[in-house]
Amino acid sequence: MNFTDLKELQADLERNYQKLPLVQKVSDIVHGEGNEHASVMLIGEAPGYYESVQRRPFVGRSGQLLRQILVASGLSENQVYISNIIKVRPPDNRDPLPSEILAFKPYLDDEINLIKPKLIVTLGRFSMAKFLPDVKVSQVHGRLHKIKWNERTLFILPMYHPAAALRATQVKESFIQDFNKITKIIAWIDETSGSEEFKETVKKALL
Ligand code: URA
Repeated sequence: MNFTDLKELQADLERNYQKLPLVQKVSDIVHGEGNEHASVMLIGEAPGYYESVQRRPFVGRSGQLLRQILVASGLSENQVYISNIIKVRPPDNRDPLPSEILAFKPYLDDEINLIKPKLIVTLGRFSMAKFLPDVKVSQVHGRLHKIKWNERTLFILPMYHPAAALRATQVKESFIQDFNKITKIIAWIDETSGSEEFKETVKKALL
């Protein structure tokens, strides 16, 4: 699809809601939110109960943790854009099905194409698998990946899902550590005129 901005994309999603799985009415849809020109795009899995009531991504318990850690890491909420693999709550918060992920894929792809983030942070295994198939979050979280995606070079930082961080202290510690890398990674990506030595130093410090 070829939208000129996020408003157009969201209007299209709402116009076509009957073609999408799980959506019974327009108000079931939870759009992404944040800065249309964000450097950092965070991608979760699917809205939960509170997200579907408020029609905002990541506003429940795991969302509150995510937003707290985001601010503590030196980022502000309007420097980022937050979205999900699927834009509607699955029944009983079950995992999204491959067919559901596929149905919402064009919208997520268009969000990425419009925002052109410098860095994509994947939260949990479903959004990670979109870019990095066949790996485990526990093995690659916090490691910066540079990939080719639809003719575009993307930097991907896989992370645990904040719901997993709520369940285990060790995961929460990793989650905070990984989050604290974001501003350094952005600085590194911005450092286009920086020396190779600088880039190597930062790269080593990060991975
Ligand atoms: N979990 C997600 O993956 N996304 C949300 O928006 C909320 C919880």
